[in-house]
Amino acid sequence: HEPNLQEIHDFLVELAKKAGEMALAANPSTLTTDSKKNSSDLVTETDQAIEKMVYTALKAKYVNYEFLGEETYQPGMKLTDAPTFICDPIDGTINFVHGFPNVCISLGFTLRKKPVVGVIYNPFQHRMFTAIRGRGAYLNLTTRLPLKAFPEPLMGLTSALVAVEWGSDRSGRNWDTKYKTFRRLAGSAEDGGAMVHSLRCMGSAALNFCAVAAGYVDAYWEGGCWAWDVAAGWIILEEAGGIVVDANPGNWEPTVDGRKYLAIRAAPSGQKEIIEELWSNVVGTY
Ligand code: IPD
Repeated sequence: HEPNLQEIHDFLVELAKKAGEMALAANPSTLTTDSKKNSSDLVTETDQAIEKMVYTALKAKYVNYEFLGEETYQPGMKLTDAPTFICDPIDGTINFVHGFPNVCISLGFTLRKKPVVGVIYNPFQHRMFTAIRGRGAYLNLTTRLPLKAFPEPLMGLTSALVAVEWGSDRSGRNWDTKYKTFRRLAGSAEDGGAMVHSLRCMGSAALNFCAVAAGYVDAYWEGGCWAWDVAAGWIILEEAGGIVVDANPGNWEPTVDGRKYLAIRAAPSGQKEIIEELWSNVVGTY
């Protein structure tokens, strides 16, 4: 039988609050942090402890559901059609170890590879973003997203506030694509740029999705994200009337190459044109 999405949502909200308490109680330091593949890919004891807590609680209650988590991911694991919980115990780990308060736990639930429940909680700023497929997206469970009741039209890139991320891939083709894209987005017309209002690099993919869902950022582009960075944010943004353009439509396994995401906020009109403008002329391909 079909999973009870409201019940799953409520359980994920409770787990996110518990995770938030763990993050607030931790005392992370840049000195005691391990790096994974390089100095910008960090993991702390708190990332691991939160994922363990979340995994244990979910496996006890939802015995037959799958689980995909950042800290327990092994190469070769695939997202399947089965009901799956997707967990990023701390999104924004670099912010976390520096005490920069843009940090969250991101919990998603997918059915047939589509995100249907998302819960993203930033305990440092007491902000919880949630959504259930077909039932809207909310800030702190009561305020409907987007925050602007009548979203302004997206007029074009020159009046957009755009989130991007440095990410942890900073070599070779990935790096080349990234900095060329930043240059094209931010630079003036005489330098071949779109001269957006400005770029923001806030250090959490999940919270970037929430910013676009809330409407205080117009678009977010990143290449190199993993399923746990985007699953919960994806449904929150869609339920807020925004759009996610995926480099691999319908196939966003963490293992596939070319994981690029472009998120666009809700707007009464003109979304498609903006997406096309961004995607084809400005944003590079990996
Ligand atoms: C990272 C953050 C970062 C983004 C990376 C993510 P983590 O997640 O969201 O902003 O640029 O792509 O991997 O490692 O802090 O969970």
